Amino acid sequence: MNKDPLIIFDTTLRDGEQSPGASMNREEKVRIAKALERLRVDVIEAGFPAASPGDFEAVQAVASAVDDCRVCGLARALEQDIDRAGEALKAARQPRIHTFIATSPIHMERKLRMTPDQVVERAVAAVKHARRYTDDVEFSPEDAGRSEEDFLCRVIEAVIAAGATTINIPDTVGYTLPHEFGALIARLIERIPNADRAVFSVHCHNDLGLAVANSLAAVLGGARQVECTINGLGERAGNAALEEVVMAVRTRQDVFPCDTRINTREIVPCSKLVASITGFPVQPNKAIVGANAFAHESGIHQDGVLKHRETYEIMRAEDVGWKANRMVLGKHSGRNAFRTRMKELGIEFDTEEALNEAFARFKDLADKKHEIFDEDLQALISEQILDA
Ligand code: KIV
Ligand code: ZN
Repeated sequence: MNKDPLIIFDTTLRDGEQSPGASMNREEKVRIAKALERLRVDVIEAGFPAASPGDFEAVQAVASAVDDCRVCGLARALEQDIDRAGEALKAARQPRIHTFIATSPIHMERKLRMTPDQVVERAVAAVKHARRYTDDVEFSPEDAGRSEEDFLCRVIEAVIAAGATTINIPDTVGYTLPHEFGALIARLIERIPNADRAVFSVHCHNDLGLAVANSLAAVLGGARQVECTINGLGERAGNAALEEVVMAVRTRQDVFPCDTRINTREIVPCSKLVASITGFPVQPNKAIVGANAFAHESGIHQDGVLKHRETYEIMRAEDVGWKANRMVLGKHSGRNAFRTRMKELGIEFDTEEALNEAFARFKDLADKKHEIFDEDLQALISEQILDA
């Protein structure tokens, strides 16, 4: 069966950089952009050129360095922002301008101090202006998750008519729930008469820990672009984590009508690079890229995995860029994992008693230490030989 492409729009260098403390310089952005290119993301949002001269130069540098991905610059729905983005993207082979304006009542009244009619007018003018630089223009109604649906339909229909080719629906404050967000996307696509002239995209924040779930629900509702970041970096609690979205779609192809072109083996190297450049470590239990994501400690799980990997693994560690899965020896580990690791270290037991004694010594040590390393095992065997 032919699957639709699911476009992966990476915004690590723009929204990810909005994580307090995660700002990156030009060289760092280019290194990450090259890693994203190896990962085969479709679009790299390189920055917000009007935000600062440094960000302008960083977008320029990424635009020149990348061949195989579209390079995007963010711009408010203002001519001067769009001009800066257009200028910064001049060297890009496939430039995209992403322009946005808020559409929720609270943002329009309290932040923009504009009427809904003025917002529609500004959005249309911004898209038309962006089309002077490129025919790849994305529009976002900011805070769509809290916008009135009829108004969203009106704005979106107008910007598609003005030339927007991607319509991105942001859940800017991470407020929606998966069933609501998925249904919203499906209704927008259904209700907007010219919806078939644009790709629908989603951009979910993680304030309630639902960014990935909302993004996946939106894909099931018909979205064909997901905006996400490596390690889920981003403003406040972050954005949808790229690695989780990609691997959920890849692992559950029985459910999704689309797939990405991501080279999943580059996920872990890219995650490590982003963590080291930003100084934001990855929590050990983070899905896919956490150090424990493919580590087994309990005896029952280790025994199961040693007998058949799929008893406790739904993905292969190697497929996302780890060398292999890991058996962590600790107090919950069993004899099978202990014996297997000893064998890997070249230590075999002549008798069942010798194995039992070593295993008992290992359990004593494991009660005192969180994790037993190979050096601990070697020391333990030397002691056993000396005591014999
Ligand atoms: O969260 C958001 O609404 C954004 C927009 C600029 C797309 O980051
Ligand atoms: Zn955002």
